[in-house]
Amino acid sequence: MPTNSRRGTKKSTSKKSPSNLHVIDHPLTQHLLTELRQKETGTERFRFLLAQLGELLAYEATRDLAMTSVPVTTPMEKTKGNRFAQKLTIVPILRAGLGMASGMVQLLPEARVGHLGIFRDEKSLQPVHYYEKLPPTVHDGPVLLVDPMLATGGSVVGAMRLLTARKCQDIRLICLLASPEGVALVSREYPKLPIYTAALDRELNAKGYILPGLGDAGDRQFGTG
Ligand code: PRP
Ligand code: URA
Repeated sequence: MPTNSRRGTKKSTSKKSPSNLHVIDHPLTQHLLTELRQKETGTERFRFLLAQLGELLAYEATRDLAMTSVPVTTPMEKTKGNRFAQKLTIVPILRAGLGMASGMVQLLPEARVGHLGIFRDEKSLQPVHYYEKLPPTVHDGPVLLVDPMLATGGSVVGAMRLLTARKCQDIRLICLLASPEGVALVSREYPKLPIYTAALDRELNAKGYILPGLGDAGDRQFGTG
């Protein structure tokens, strides 16, 4: 008997979850995510799945982008079509954001790509910022901030400080897995930031890892574990 229900884009309805949290529980994302979580899934397959999930989540996160009407001539007649009204920038947090971003650029080939290097200190779990390369006009248009793991939320808060200092206004966070702790911190600091995720997991362990999670996203993606 299939465990079926109508799934898709769900604004979280839990009393504990903020309204800016969008859990994308479409069967495709859940199917791919389940294989990705599996500890036997090797590096090559992990990268492939991460890119596919990046593409699917970007599809949902761009659902309400502003459009501009343009003339188009089909082989049959002249009509009107729509194009993005503004430039879009994809900003992966290094390293682990790279794999999801590679799928997102397949979907949005005209997007600019900026990079933020942030890792979290293993002991303090505090974010350490080590690299930044963003388009000079990154504030001009929506920004898709990408990191597969929203754990304590420190890395995303660090990235948001950098992006808001650059006057970015329309920022959308795309992560694969979110912890309740990470969602709470980010929503407290940035209540208007929409968070798109494939799953809201149970909790963090004492080392700041998401449970049930998928392990270390950077190590699994780059074979460095
Ligand atoms: C991981 C992950 C996030 C961060 C999440 O990166 O990719 O960037 O941890 O944790 P937080 O929400 O508690 O800040 P990591 O520090 O392992 O760096 P890496 O991507 O370079 O491996
Ligand atoms: N970073 C990861 O890669 N995995 C976690 O579970 C938490 C932070």
